[in-house]
Amino acid sequence: MKISMIVAYGKNWEIGLKNQMLWHISEDFKNFKTITSGHHILMGRKTFESIGKPLPNRISIVLSNSGFECEGVHTFNDIQKALNFARENAEEELFIIGGANIYETMFPYVNKMYLSEVDFEGIADAFLKEIDFSSWDLTEEKTHEAIIVDGKVKSPAWNFKVWIKKD
Ligand SMILES: NC(=O)c1ccc[n+]([C@@H]2O[C@H](COP(=O)([O-])OP(=O)(O)OC[C@H]3O[C@@H](n4cnc5c(N)ncnc54)[C@H](OP(=O)(O)O)[C@@H]3O)[C@@H](O)[C@H]2O)c1
Repeated sequence: MKISMIVAYGKNWEIGLKNQMLWHISEDFKNFKTITSGHHILMGRKTFESIGKPLPNRISIVLSNSGFECEGVHTFNDIQKALNFARENAEEELFIIGGANIYETMFPYVNKMYLSEVDFEGIADAFLKEIDFSSWDLTEEKTHEAIIVDGKVKSPAWNFKVWIKKD
């Protein structure tokens, strides 16, 4: 089973504030939906609570040590048990969808990254650990312009990149 990570981050590796996203980029959300649909998605309990419900057309796996439970969600307190659950369901590509804690813990297992680099700098309390790209190959890249409405940035510019871990 391939283990992939999907994340959007700002110029200083910012990913969230007060358990919320820092920007609203509808095309990035659509991209996230297209990429993850039909797959198992693995997240931390805080990210699940930030989303608020199981995402449709995906199998939600939540990691928690505090006894969290929710209908439609598979909760595990152990990474290996969570990975085995997806494997036993014949998943071919599991997606790690955050947040900061889970990205850091799961990074050693990740073989593919779908990264949205957002043209954003601002206050945050959740960050991605800086990635050393020297052990990764860039396989796909697409730039997206900002959306400006009435002179204000409605949606920041972003670069979408796909990286595969070198052998
Ligand atoms: N920009 C993006 O692409 C993106 C994507 C996702 C999330 N985010 C942001 O990231 C932030 C949340 O990140 P976070 O680091 O605070 O929280 P998180 O990673 O979503 O969740 C942390 C929780 O997961 C559980 N957990 C973590 N490791 C575990 C393990 N090994 N075994 C069992 N349970 C484990 C614990 O839950 P219990 O406390 O229940 O034990 C822990 O408190 C939010 O601001 C969110 O908006 C951003």
